[in-house]
Amino acid sequence: MASPLDVVILAAGQGKRMHSALPKVLHCLAGTPLAAYVLTAARALSPRAIAVVVGHEADTVERALAAPDVIFVRQDPPRGTGDAARLALDALPPDGVTLVGLGDVPLVPSEALASVAEIAQASRVGLLTARVRNPFGLGRIVRGPAGDVQAIVEERDAAPEERAVNEINTGFIAAPTSLLKLWLSRLSPHNAQGEFYLTDIVAMAVAEGVGVEAHVVNDEVSVLGVNDRAQLAKLERILQRRKATTLMLAGTTIVDPDRIDIRGDLQCGRDVTIDVGCVFEGSVRLGERAHVGPYCVLRDCAVGDDTRVDAFCHVDSATIGRHCRIGPYARLRPGTELAEDVHIGNFVEVKASTLGAGSKANHLAYVGDAVLGSRVNYGAGSITANYDGANKHRSIIGDDVHVGSNCVLVAPITIGAGATIGGGSTVVKEAPAGQLTLARAAQVSNPRWKRPRKKG
Ligand code: UD1
Ligand code: CA
Repeated sequence: MASPLDVVILAAGQGKRMHSALPKVLHCLAGTPLAAYVLTAARALSPRAIAVVVGHEADTVERALAAPDVIFVRQDPPRGTGDAARLALDALPPDGVTLVGLGDVPLVPSEALASVAEIAQASRVGLLTARVRNPFGLGRIVRGPAGDVQAIVEERDAAPEERAVNEINTGFIAAPTSLLKLWLSRLSPHNAQGEFYLTDIVAMAVAEGVGVEAHVVNDEVSVLGVNDRAQLAKLERILQRRKATTLMLAGTTIVDPDRIDIRGDLQCGRDVTIDVGCVFEGSVRLGERAHVGPYCVLRDCAVGDDTRVDAFCHVDSATIGRHCRIGPYARLRPGTELAEDVHIGNFVEVKASTLGAGSKANHLAYVGDAVLGSRVNYGAGSITANYDGANKHRSIIGDDVHVGSNCVLVAPITIGAGATIGGGSTVVKEAPAGQLTLARAAQVSNPRWKRPRKKG
């Protein structure tokens, strides 16, 4: 029978090297805070409890990471990873095993964490280590002549021969909880940084004859920590590349996998094409054969089969049907619902409106708080005047309506099916079905008019 597992995640530091008002662990990777990734990886181990140590901007961090299965422990001031771990263990039961990890190592795989926890289940100390090309700044794994782990030495405390070691501490350590508590209570800050180092427990375990075993990960990038914005950007590209590769292998054409940003969940049907520079946020679904042109931003939306979203469109919380043509340069705002075969052209903005099948607004228009039937033609420069300065009002436009260019439809308004609104009309009351409605000054011409001439 395995002992109960508890997880501690350290997230109390400021992250000085970020030079930011935002705590480091809340900086985002693919739209999600760094520490949330570590939480997700930890959850995969089904632990009994997860304790997150917060300190710098504690309220903000707690709000961002709050979840029913997370308890928060405050560390103030931050006196090192060992001090943080000790405070967390004070809040956890003494039985079982504890996995301690860092909130700034977002891509750590849950399988690797499980392997480290497994070592602790055998009453030993488990470490997650990696061999890296450039170990600068990281804790080095010191091994004895027989290859057994002796200690972890931080960069700033390391002797030259220790600095030459390229096996590093990733920051994830597991041990039987009662032993860990004991060792953490004995830490001292006699080191270059004057901090309590979690890593010092390794030498303590060795001194007491408790075995220490390292699980070495092969994939060095998955255990990279984020200490500055350059490292954050590096991990962002690695993660985006992974997401793009997953989609490509499942049948999506991504024109350049180095020029896509998926900050959430993107689901694609077969034979979707995504051109360069697109950003996907939240939950986005693209139907089969959908085509997204270059430099589009799509957030929380669904795009139907065979629909084209051309270059430079911005789509937010909208549903787009099959066979539509959107853009270039279209803006679909929250609450837009387009049926099949709808065309939304350049510089057209749609908000909280429904457009029926085959309707078109091809140029320079605003459709807000409106219901358009099927086959409506909505002319260039026409707008729904949906706001009276205090309240929003709705426009109802029937099937087969033709709205000419430069019309102002003053809501609340109803345009009956089959009506035509002459160009340049300002329509303030119901336009009857099937009729031509004109609401503009009559055209006059003056045969006696003379063009002014310059004096002298
Ligand atoms: C740490 C390890 C180092 C390892 C590296 C891997 C120690 C002493 N060093 O160094 O061996 O190679 O991670 O990325 O453990 N934190 C607290 N309270 C504190 C100090 C830190 O909660 O008092 C948190 C931070 O918020 C951060 C994490 O612990 O999320 C790591 O702290 P950081 O200062 O980045 O440690 P490193 O210098 O990277
Ligand atoms: Ca770090």
